[in-house]
Amino acid sequence: MKIISVVGARPNFMKIAPFIKAVNNHNTRHSIIHKLVHTGQHYDDSMSKAFFEELEIPEADVNLKIGSGTHAEQVGQTMIAFEKVLKAERPDWVVVVGDVNATLACSVTAKKEWIKVCHIEAGLRSHDLTMPEEINRLVTDRISDLLLAPDTLSVENLRSEGVPDSKIRFVGNIMIDTLETNRKKAEKINIGDIIERNYKGPRQTIQGSRKTAVPDTRPEKGDFSVVTLHRPSNVDSREVLGPIVNFLTDEVAEDLLLLWPIHPRTKKMLSEFGLSEKVALHKNIILLEPLGYLDMLRLNMGARLILTDSGGLQEECTVLGTPCLTLRRNTERPVTLRDHGGASVLVGNNIDVIREEYHKALSGRRNPVRPELWDGNTAERCLKAILEYGR
Ligand code: UD1
Repeated sequence: MKIISVVGARPNFMKIAPFIKAVNNHNTRHSIIHKLVHTGQHYDDSMSKAFFEELEIPEADVNLKIGSGTHAEQVGQTMIAFEKVLKAERPDWVVVVGDVNATLACSVTAKKEWIKVCHIEAGLRSHDLTMPEEINRLVTDRISDLLLAPDTLSVENLRSEGVPDSKIRFVGNIMIDTLETNRKKAEKINIGDIIERNYKGPRQTIQGSRKTAVPDTRPEKGDFSVVTLHRPSNVDSREVLGPIVNFLTDEVAEDLLLLWPIHPRTKKMLSEFGLSEKVALHKNIILLEPLGYLDMLRLNMGARLILTDSGGLQEECTVLGTPCLTLRRNTERPVTLRDHGGASVLVGNNIDVIREEYHKALSGRRNPVRPELWDGNTAERCLKAILEYGR
């Protein structure tokens, strides 16, 4: 059997790492030929190479190097380049993960070449078509042959869309395999060292010049909060990003040291809106480069609370019990919400709501929760589903 797995952007890497390990463990008799294709949507070392190294992902067999662009450019260029790979390789399966542009582009290209598609992390729905990821999820799930769902709510979503049970397998959350594999390693990391290695001084943030000395402030255990923002709906408009920045600088950072690993998109927008200085010069805010997997996991383990618009962090917070304010109006991961026993609460970008939930979260306690089958063994179930398909 020949399998091509696809990655494109940062959140894909922690999902493919355990799958490749499962293939290698199974492959003592070399019954599977596996190739990894990186579309190259994320290309900075901090957004891509660092994850390959830490998560021990073998170097991609092919990198399509499509880089940044509009959605149509990214999807179109990926399809053109991936079609050539498929024509040359003729795999039995293309495995796609998550909901980024690579997921959509490569699943469509594979189906048009009559190649079977397996979608890991199928069935998540935000029901919000203004999110590019929702379109990617809907299209990929509609055409996939094998839909591997992370939770029972996702299974129900697929059933309600008319997907037959013969195509659906409930396998659990593959990202939690990566969390469990790396938990002990992350525990050993000193938070001061994370800051030292990744500190983005004010001058560097504002002008792109060299780093300045790391500030003296050091977070004691649990005495810091973490923010990550990258969604266009939060960072692409001044009317939304401005009040969020004011809340972070004038309220959160007045209570707690705030660690902020900055996504390239957010850095660009802060600068465009003239907000960089306000953030970078605040004495209680430490701006960091985009973090590697282990450093981010370590911060999550230690933080008093996290404010984020990342879906993956919502899931990790749930398993670690870190109170999580999700700066979105909806989520495709309801299983992580407090209403379902998780650690996260939707706060959108209305500052009054964010403030109210922030104070609740500050006084809240850690409450680790493990949804069904988030047990660290999902990758094996994914591979088993592929191997048993059609039997
Ligand atoms: C993409 C995914 C999103 C995911 C996020 C995680 C889609 C539709 N979106 O959004 O689901 O949550 O990744 O990060 O696939 N840039 C760099 N270096 C890089 C990559 C990007 O500087 O290595 C900058 C470029 O200016 C680029 C911008 O970041 O235009 C946005 O990158 P892009 O890949 O278009 O989308 P993300 O916002 O990262």
